[in-house]
Amino acid sequence: MAENNSNKPDAKIRKVNFKFEKPFPKHWYNDNPIATHFMNAQHLAFPDGEKFFIRSVKAFADTYKNDPELKRRVDNFIGQEGTHFAEHQKFWDIMEDQNLQPMKFVNVYRNSAWEGIEKWARKKFVKNNVGNKIALSVTVALEHYTAMLAESGILNEDITEKMPEEMKNLFMWHAAEEIEHKSIPFDVLKKVDDSYALRIGGMVLATWGLWFYLGLGTVMLTHNDKDIKTKDIPKHTFTFLKNFRRTFGGTLASQFGQYFKRDFHPDQIDNYHLAVELLKGKNYA
Ligand SMILES: [Fe+2]
Ligand SMILES: [Fe+2]
Repeated sequence: MAENNSNKPDAKIRKVNFKFEKPFPKHWYNDNPIATHFMNAQHLAFPDGEKFFIRSVKAFADTYKNDPELKRRVDNFIGQEGTHFAEHQKFWDIMEDQNLQPMKFVNVYRNSAWEGIEKWARKKFVKNNVGNKIALSVTVALEHYTAMLAESGILNEDITEKMPEEMKNLFMWHAAEEIEHKSIPFDVLKKVDDSYALRIGGMVLATWGLWFYLGLGTVMLTHNDKDIKTKDIPKHTFTFLKNFRRTFGGTLASQFGQYFKRDFHPDQIDNYHLAVELLKGKNYA
C-alpha cells in the first residue's frame, strides 16, 4: 500500500504545563475505581517507558546523524517524549497524597522491566548490536500501540467527557503528539535493520510487557486503595472491560493486525488529521 504523507504534520515540541488541583478526586475516571487505576497505571508506566524509547532511539544516533531530515525528526520525537514523561510524572505526587503508594508499583516495574530485562538483554546480546536492535523494535511496537490508543481516545469522545478538565487536556495533548510522531522510530528501525522477524519479535515482547505491566499496576493500585469496597470490585471491573472493549476494541482489532503486513508503515493508517484538528487553536507554544 502506498504511504500517505500528504497531511503528515511535524512532530512539534510544545511547552505545556498541566496543573492538577488538590485534593484531586480519588476515583476521577467515570466514578469507577478500576478504570481510574488503569489510567493511573498509565501515569506510572509511561514516564519510564518513554525514557526507554528515548535511549533506544539514541543508541542508533550514528545511523541517523548523517541524515539531517531524519535527525531533525528524531530530535522532535525525543523532545515530545521528554515532555510527556515530565507531565505524567506530576500526577505521582497526587497519587502519593491519595495513599495509593504509587512507588510500590513503580519500583517493581522499574527493577524488573528496565533495570532487569532491558539491562540484561542489552548486555547479553551485544554481538551485532542485537540487544539494542530488539529494544528499538520494542519501542516501534509500543509506538504503534500508543498511536492506536490515541486514535481511539480522540474518536470516542465519551472516553474523556467525564474526566476532570485538566486530565482530559493532558491525555488529549499526549494522544495528538503520539499520532504526530508515530512514524519516527519506525523510520529509524527501517534504516538500522529492515528485518521482518526483528519487527515482529519486538511486537511480541511489547504486547506482553504492555498488558502485563498495565494489569499489574491496576491490581497493585486497587489493592492499595482503601476506599474500594471489595464486593464492588467485580462490578467495576466488568463495567471497565465492557467500556474498554466498546471504545478501544475496534481500533485495536483492525490496526493491530496491520502491523504484521510485510510492507507495513505507520503512514498507511490515515489519522494524522485527528492530531492536527485536536491541536488547532490550542495555545501550546
Ligand atoms: Fe508519549
Ligand atoms: Fe510516543
